[in-house]
Amino acid sequence: MTFRAGWNFLMTPGPTNIPDRVLREMARPALEYAGPEFTELSKGVHNDLKKLFKTSAEVFIYAANGHGAWEAALSNTLSPGDLVLVPETGQFSSSWSLMAESLQINSLYMPGDWRTGVDPDEVEKALREDTQHKIKAVLMVHTDTATSVTSNVPAVRTAIDAAKHPALFMVDTIASLVNTEYHMDEWGVDVTISACQKGMMVAPGISFTAANDKARETGKISTMPRNYWNWQTRRGDIHYTWYCGTGPINSIFGLREALDMIFEETIEGACKRHQRLADAVRASVSVWGLGGKFELNALLKEQQANGVTTILIDDAINIEDLHVLCRDKFNVSLGYGLGKLNGKSFRIGHMGHVNEPMVLGTLGCIEAAFQMLGYDHGKGGVQAAIESLSIS
Ligand SMILES: Cc1ncc(COP(=O)(O)O)c(C=O)c1O
Repeated sequence: MTFRAGWNFLMTPGPTNIPDRVLREMARPALEYAGPEFTELSKGVHNDLKKLFKTSAEVFIYAANGHGAWEAALSNTLSPGDLVLVPETGQFSSSWSLMAESLQINSLYMPGDWRTGVDPDEVEKALREDTQHKIKAVLMVHTDTATSVTSNVPAVRTAIDAAKHPALFMVDTIASLVNTEYHMDEWGVDVTISACQKGMMVAPGISFTAANDKARETGKISTMPRNYWNWQTRRGDIHYTWYCGTGPINSIFGLREALDMIFEETIEGACKRHQRLADAVRASVSVWGLGGKFELNALLKEQQANGVTTILIDDAINIEDLHVLCRDKFNVSLGYGLGKLNGKSFRIGHMGHVNEPMVLGTLGCIEAAFQMLGYDHGKGGVQAAIESLSIS
C-alpha cells in the first residue's frame, strides 16, 4: 500500500469519515444476541431513529446497504404487476425504478433534467390522469447524490393531496438525513428509506425503513414474496425477529454512538453546519468557474444540496487525473460523476463528520491540483470559501 501521511480526507458523498468515537464503539466485543444488554441497546436505537426521521412510525433496521432498504420498502407494500410513479432526479431515482421493474413492479418514470428537482405540478398531473388509481406509490429521492439536487418533499405531498390520490408516498433520505431538514410525519411521508454511511457517520452496512400505519396495512395484502425484509414478522415480542436473525451488533454499537453525537450537536445544528460548509464549497466553485468551465450542476439555489456538490467540468478534461492526483498526492478522496454525469463532473462530499478545516483543506488541494494539471480556472476559490465561512 502506498504510504500517505496524515488523515485521509474521505470527501466522497458516502461512505463518509467515521468519527473515532464511533469506530471505538464498533471495535467492542460482541454481546449475546438475545441477552438483556443488546436487547436494551437495540430498543433505544430503534426509538431514537424515530427522532431522526421525526416520526412515530415503526422503524426497521436491516443488515444491508441502501439498496436493501429500497427493496424492503418495495417488497413490503407492493405486488407484482403494480404501478409506481418515479420522478427522475438522477442516478438514484433511475436505480430505484430499475429495482422496482426487476421485482415485476411497473414503473412510470417521469423524465427530469438532472439539474432541477422533482416538479410537483408534473406529479399532480400524472396522478390526476390516473383516474383508476393504478399508481400504488410515488417513489421520491430527497437528495439525489449524483446531481446534488434536493427536491421539495412537502410540495410533492401537497401535489398528491391536490390530486386526491391514495398512492403511498415513499422518500429516500439516504443522502439528506442529518444534513437537511426532514419531518416524516409532518410532511405526510408513508415510508422513509435511509442508510447509515452518509450523514449518520457509521461504517457502511446497516439501513432503515420507517413505515407508518397506512404503509404497514397495505403490506398485509401485498403478494410480493419476501422473507428477510418482512415488516409483518419483524418487531415482534422476540427480539431475535427484529433482525430476522442475529443482529448486526457492532454496527448497532456504532449507531448508538453516532446518534449520541447527532443529539449532542442537535439535528438542527447539524443541518446548519452542513449548510455553511456547502455554501463555502459553492463559493469556491463560482470563482473557479470565472476562469474555466467549472459549474454547479444544481441550477436553483434553494435546491442545492447541503451534503454534496456536483461540479460540471469541460468535457475535454480527463477527470481521472484530478482524482488520482488528489488521492495520491494529497490524500483527499473525491466522488466520481455518476450515470450520465460520469466523465463530465466530479463531486465533493461534505456530509457527516466534517468541519471547516476539512472543507478548506479539500478545496485548497483541488485548487492546487487544477494548477498542477494546467486546468484553466478562476484563482482564489479558497479565499472565496474563507469569506463565505467568515460571514455565516
Ligand atoms: C440517494 C441514494 N439512494 C440510494 C443509494 C444506494 O445506497 P447503497 O449504495 O448503500 O446501496 C445511494 C448511494 O449512494 C444514494 O446516494
